[in-house]
Amino acid sequence: MDEERLIQAEYRSDDDIEGSLRPHSLAEYHGQQKIKESLGIYMQAALERREPLDHILLYGPPGLGKTTLAGIIAAEMGHNIRITSGPAIERPGDLASILTNLNAGDVLFIDEIHRLSHAVEEVLYPAMEDFALDIMIGKGPSARSIRLDLPKFTLIAATTRAGMLTSPLRDRFGIHFRLELYTPEELAVIIERSARIMRIECEHDGALEVASRSRGTPRVANRLIKRVRDYAQVRGQGTITADIAREGLDMLEIDILGLDRTDRIMLETMIRKFGGGPVGLDTLAAITGEDAGTIEDVYEPYLLQLGFIMRTPRGRVATPAAYEHLGLTYVPTNPAPQQTRLNLD
Ligand SMILES: Nc1ncnc2c1ncn2[C@@H]1O[C@H](COP(=O)(O)OP(=O)(O)O)[C@@H](O)[C@H]1O
Ligand SMILES: [Mg+2]
Repeated sequence: MDEERLIQAEYRSDDDIEGSLRPHSLAEYHGQQKIKESLGIYMQAALERREPLDHILLYGPPGLGKTTLAGIIAAEMGHNIRITSGPAIERPGDLASILTNLNAGDVLFIDEIHRLSHAVEEVLYPAMEDFALDIMIGKGPSARSIRLDLPKFTLIAATTRAGMLTSPLRDRFGIHFRLELYTPEELAVIIERSARIMRIECEHDGALEVASRSRGTPRVANRLIKRVRDYAQVRGQGTITADIAREGLDMLEIDILGLDRTDRIMLETMIRKFGGGPVGLDTLAAITGEDAGTIEDVYEPYLLQLGFIMRTPRGRVATPAAYEHLGLTYVPTNPAPQQTRLNLD
């Protein structure tokens, strides 16, 4: 399925309003309570010691606020942020020039850090550890390396796949934060804030209705509210009420739990064609037309959180909750293998 999905957590071309909806302070950043609490302490301690903050690794599914949080940290520390990404830093020289252009205290944000090349990663080690850059001068037997001091900066890196980082890189981050999916109540607050910014009238129940279909993801919530606004304007009185939200999202084929057609096709195929599983990731990829990595990073976390699928060593299994949601009767056709009794006599 090549077309973009309305409920996809990754950035879509119609998320152009995202910048204007982005909170700029920790106070406006709703949810992720545990992270905010720890962060508040680390930031205050660093400010009091007049030191830069330790390097921070942010990980979790797309759309949960990693980029937003990096910007907020820089702002709260009173410093500039330089934003780049793993794939954008092609050669070691590219990273060297970024690093030498930082000012003391600045935040360097590297998105998709798991996509850094090995050669670039090597440059990052001494930069993170000793705030130093090792440069080779000359070639052959006369080559020598000189060490340049770098300003003390804070690296904030984001990834959807913490498991893909090499351990030397992962170990150089003093702070690791794993972002969690948001609860509907948290998302409702975020939606109400976005609605105010976009000047959309939105009742609390309307916000909750949109929230519960947003897959725990602020980016999805902000997108759905825009769609529901159109529906409210044409079919309603302009205000997003619970009924309007429900009708608008039903029309978009996004169900009460935020599953779209692709999710339902995936679950239904698992159940009808494979007796509920286990089904391998590659088979799921073939069914949905997504690649295996995307299913694993982007679609599965939400289905796992709902308890609709389970990961087993032999593949993914649909749970009774998934059958129930799709209105199917639970008849596992692949019962657990019979235990063979050993005769020890
Ligand atoms: N905690 C939050 N409070 C309010 N809005 C948020 C929050 N987290 C994310 N958002 C909104 O969701 C959108 C996506 O966030 P972003 O930081 O780009 O996610 P990520 O970098 O994890 O993919 C942004 O427009 C931002 O406004
Ligand atoms: Mg991001």
